[in-house]
Amino acid sequence: MSSQHFLTLFYFLLLSCNTITSSTSSSQNDETFDFVRPIDRKLLLGLNNMEKLSHLKFYWHDIMSGKNPTSFTVVPSPLKLNSTFSFGLVTMMDDPLTSGPELSSKLVGKCQGFYASTSQDNFAFLMAMNLAFIEGEYNGSSITILGRNPVQDKVREMPVVGGSGVFRFARGYAQLTTYSYDPKNAIAVVEYNVYVSHY
Ligand SMILES: *[C@@H]1O[C@H](CO)[C@@H](O)[C@H](O)[C@H]1NC(C)=O
Ligand SMILES: *[C@@H]1O[C@H](CO)[C@@H](O)[C@H](O)[C@H]1NC(C)=O
Repeated sequence: MSSQHFLTLFYFLLLSCNTITSSTSSSQNDETFDFVRPIDRKLLLGLNNMEKLSHLKFYWHDIMSGKNPTSFTVVPSPLKLNSTFSFGLVTMMDDPLTSGPELSSKLVGKCQGFYASTSQDNFAFLMAMNLAFIEGEYNGSSITILGRNPVQDKVREMPVVGGSGVFRFARGYAQLTTYSYDPKNAIAVVEYNVYVSHY
């Protein structure tokens, strides 16, 4: 064994001892835990939990008309003179997320949140939403997205800012493309491709 290898091994052992002592001492020192403390990643997430990368694809249905609308304007645009881009409008949504583009396809979750028109010279929305999944092992887990949505662009990208359950420590991004838009009935179907890193 070269001296360099030996040193590496030595440091590795030193580090692992350190981890063990610090993890035991952190549980012993609970009485001294006041407000914030560092915690060993392995203790919280489990030794075998490696960070995963997932690609989710589903369709978002925003339905503002008919017997069962899924979203409602809760604040109309306050602009009387020029409301071309509905600046100031806030719409609250509880929109179905389905595996296919048809509303009748499998429901995988709901998109709960709001979008607000934030541009006076373009169609651009601030979107704040929790994607609450109900499908299989993802049932009960959620992904939170906060971003800017210039709806007339072919592809819009918004950041994933967090998640819960399966998606704890989530970070990533979502890409949106409009699948169909029916202005008469105010029904939009948008394809979501979400790339998310999580444990
Ligand atoms: C409203 O604003 C847009 C963007 O500034 C402008 O192009 C449009 O002409 C305005 N419309 C009216 C009626 O003033
Ligand atoms: C999701 O979990 C809830 C609560 O545990 C349960 O009532 C529901 O049936 C589950 N849904 C699906 C689709 O598995």
